[in-house]
Amino acid sequence: MAEPLSFEPLPFERQPVPTPAAPVPSSPAAGELGPTGRPMPVLPEPTPVVRREGAKARVVSMCNQKGGVGKTTTTINLGASLVEYGRKVLLVDFDPQGSLSVGLGLNPHEMDLTVYNLLMQSDVSIHDVVVPTGVPGMDLLPSNIDLSAAEVQLVHEVGREQTLMRVLAPALADYDVVLIDCQPSLGLLTVNALTASDGVIVPLECEYFALRGVALLKTTIDKVRERLNPSLSIDGVLGTMFDGRTLHSREVMERLVQAWGDKVFHTVIRRTVKFSDSTVAGEPITTYAATSAGADSYRQLAKEVLSRWPDA
Ligand SMILES: Nc1ncnc2c1ncn2[C@@H]1O[C@H](COP(=O)(O)OP(=O)(O)OP(=O)(O)O)[C@@H](O)[C@H]1O
Ligand SMILES: [Mg+2]
Repeated sequence: MAEPLSFEPLPFERQPVPTPAAPVPSSPAAGELGPTGRPMPVLPEPTPVVRREGAKARVVSMCNQKGGVGKTTTTINLGASLVEYGRKVLLVDFDPQGSLSVGLGLNPHEMDLTVYNLLMQSDVSIHDVVVPTGVPGMDLLPSNIDLSAAEVQLVHEVGREQTLMRVLAPALADYDVVLIDCQPSLGLLTVNALTASDGVIVPLECEYFALRGVALLKTTIDKVRERLNPSLSIDGVLGTMFDGRTLHSREVMERLVQAWGDKVFHTVIRRTVKFSDSTVAGEPITTYAATSAGADSYRQLAKEVLSRWPDA
C-alpha cells in the first residue's frame, strides 16, 4: 500500500537573517577602488559647450542584442544628464517596442508621425517627426510597432544600411549629442543605427549570462566598421543592475574588465527599483528622483562619456 501523503512541513534549518550591508556610496572618491576593481579616476567637470560653425552632433548607439539590459534606461537617463551639463540632446527610439517613447510619457497609439514615416516616406523630414520631451533641451524621434515593418521593407531599398544616417543628417547641426536606443537584435535596424553612429555604448547586465553573446556583438560592430562605417568606435561598456553586495556582480565586472580593458566605464549603474518607478512616471530618474543614487550614477556616466568624447 502506498504511503499516505504527509503534509508535515519539511524540517529546515533557520538561516541567520543577513544584516543589511552598509549603504554603498554611489560614487567612490577619486583614487579609491571603484566597483570595477580599478581605482576611480578624477573625472573632469564638463566644460560648457562651445558651438562652432558647422559642428555636428556626436551620434551614439546603445546596443546589445540581449533584451532587458538597460539600453532604454541608459538612453533616457544619460540623455537627461547630458542636458544638465548644457548639451542639447536628441533621442532616437529605434525599437518597435517603443519603450523609449513610452518611458518619456508618449502614448504609442497617439503618434502622428514616427521614425517609420521618416525612414519610408521621402516627403517626411526629421523636423516633422521630432517632438519635445518633458526635459527642456532634450527632443525625441518617437517610434511604435509600425517600425517593425521598416525592417522588412528596407531590405529592398538601395543603400538600405544608410537609411537612418541619411534621414538624421539634416538635424545634426541642431544638437550636441544624438542617442539611438536600439532594439534587442542585430538585424537591419541595428546595422542602420551603427552605420549612422560615431560611437557605441554597450550596456551589460552584471550577471553571468550577460557575457554570452558579447563576442557576436563585437563581431557585428567590427563588420559594420570594416564595410560601412570606418569611423565607428566603441565608446564604452557599461555595467548595469550592479549589486555590490554580491560576489557574483563583482566577478562579472572583473571578467568584463579582463575582456574589454579600459573600454569598461568606471561608472556602474546599481540595481534599484527607482528605475522602473520612473518609467511608470514617464520621466528620467534625474527629475523623478533627482537626488537618488541612480540619478547620481547617470550624472557620473555623463561626465565620464564627455571626458571620452573629443568634441561633445
Ligand atoms: N539599474 C537598474 N536597476 C533596476 N532595474 C533596472 C535598472 N536598469 C533598468 N532596469 C529595469 O529593467 C527593465 C529593462 O530595462 P530597459 O528597458 O532599459 O532594458 P533594454 O535593454 O532597453 O530592454 P529591451 O532589450 O527590451 O529594449 C526595465 O523595467 C527597467 O526599469
Ligand atoms: Mg529597450
